[in-house]
Amino acid sequence: MTTLYQEHIAVLTNRYEDAMVHFGLDAIVLASGEKSYYFQDDHTHPFQAYSGAQQWLPFTIGAETYILLQTGKKPTLVWPVRDDFWHAPNPIPSGDWQQDWDVSLARKTDKWFTALPKNVAWLGPQPMTFAVPCEGLKAYVDFAKAVKTPFEIQAMRQANLRGATGHMAAKEAFLAGMSELEIHLAFLEASQQTAAQEPYPGIVGLNEHAAVLHYEHKAIEKMANSRTLLIDAGANEHGYASDITRTFVRHDDDFSALVNDLDTMEQKLCRSAVAGVSFRDLHKDTLAGIATLLHDHKICTLGVEEQLAKRIPQVFFPHGLGHLLGLQVHDVGGHQVDQAGTLSLPNDDAPFLRLTKTLEKDMVITIEPGLYFIPMLLDKMQANIKDHGCDMTRIQQFMPYGGIRIEDNVVVKNDLPENLTREAFTNIS
Ligand code: GLY
Ligand code: MN
Ligand code: MN
Repeated sequence: MTTLYQEHIAVLTNRYEDAMVHFGLDAIVLASGEKSYYFQDDHTHPFQAYSGAQQWLPFTIGAETYILLQTGKKPTLVWPVRDDFWHAPNPIPSGDWQQDWDVSLARKTDKWFTALPKNVAWLGPQPMTFAVPCEGLKAYVDFAKAVKTPFEIQAMRQANLRGATGHMAAKEAFLAGMSELEIHLAFLEASQQTAAQEPYPGIVGLNEHAAVLHYEHKAIEKMANSRTLLIDAGANEHGYASDITRTFVRHDDDFSALVNDLDTMEQKLCRSAVAGVSFRDLHKDTLAGIATLLHDHKICTLGVEEQLAKRIPQVFFPHGLGHLLGLQVHDVGGHQVDQAGTLSLPNDDAPFLRLTKTLEKDMVITIEPGLYFIPMLLDKMQANIKDHGCDMTRIQQFMPYGGIRIEDNVVVKNDLPENLTREAFTNIS
C-alpha cells in the first residue's frame, strides 16, 4: 500500500522533474544550509533548515544536509557525518522512508559533489561554485508549494493537536494568575517543545501587552490583575507549523462580549475559505465585519460604509487576515500568481496582507482577524481622521484589556473547509 509519504515524494518528484525539463537542467541540489555564529562568539544561532530541502523528509533535518535530484533516479540524501566528541552523534533516522532514497554519508571534507552532472542548479543558502545560475527556478518551484499534499496536511493536523494542547495549559496558567513567562513555560511543556523548537517565538501578552502585535517579552513578574491573555503560539511536526492564537478573559463584561463576537465572525470567515474565493475579498469582508463590531459595541457611531471610507477598521485591525501556512509559518509564494514569479502586491487598504491569491483546494492558510486598542494608532486617528465618530471615553475603558486576536489554520476545500485548529481543540477536550 502506498503511504502518504510515498505519495508526497511522488508529487515532489513530478514537480522537480518538470522544473528540470523547463530549465534544461541535469540535476538540482537542495541544501539545508549551514549554522551561523553569533558575532565574535563560538556558539551558533538556532538552526532551521531551508524549507525546500526539509519538504522532502519525514523528520527534522539539520545543517549541511543535501538532496540531489536527477531525472529518472531516486533522490539521493547526502547526510552529514559528525565524528567529533563535542556533540551528540547524528545517526540517520531509520524507517520505511529509506525505500524511496539513496543515502550517502559525507564528512565535512568529502567532495561528494565532484561526480555531479554538468548543468546542476542549487537551491538553498550559500550557493556552491559548481552550480549554474538558474534564474526563475526558485519562483517556479515555490509556486507549487501553496497547495499541500495529504502528507503535509496530516503533519499540520498533528502540529495543531500539539499547539492546542499547549494553549489549554496556557489558559489554565492564566486563570491561576501566572506571569507571562510561567504561561509560556506551561505552553511549552504541554506542547512538548523547547522555545528554540517553536515554529516562531510564541507571543504571550497579558492585558495592555495584548495590543502589541508581535509582543516579544515574557514578563517574569506576576500581574496583580490579569484580565486578558493573548497567546499566539504553535508547534511543529517535522518542520510543518501550526500558528494558533487565542484570547482568554477572566471576567464576563463588555470586553468578553467583544471577544465572543469576534470569535463568531472568525468562524464564519473560516467557513468562507473555499476554492475560487479571492483572499483579498475575504480581507475586505473582514474590514466590513470589524466596522460592524465597532458600531454594534458602541465604539464608533459611524455606519459601515463611512468607516470603510475613512479607514477606521484599519485603526483597530491593522494587519492582514492571514497567510499561507506550511514549513514556513508565513509560507512562500503568498503574493505569487504564476510560476514565472509574477507578484500581486497588496494595496493601500491592506498594506500588510501576506496572501493575495485566489484560494485553491488544499491550500493551508490562517484566518486571524483581530481588534486591538493600540495607543499609537488611536493617537494618529485622532490627529488625522476628521469626524472619526469613535467614543474615546469608551475606548479608554477597553484599553487596559489590550486587544483580541483569534487565529485558526484552515485547509481550503471545494466546499466546507477543514478547520485543523477547531478540530484539534475538540479532539483534546
Ligand atoms: N504568529 C505570526 C502570525 O500569526 O502571523
Ligand atoms: Mn498567522
Ligand atoms: Mn499567529
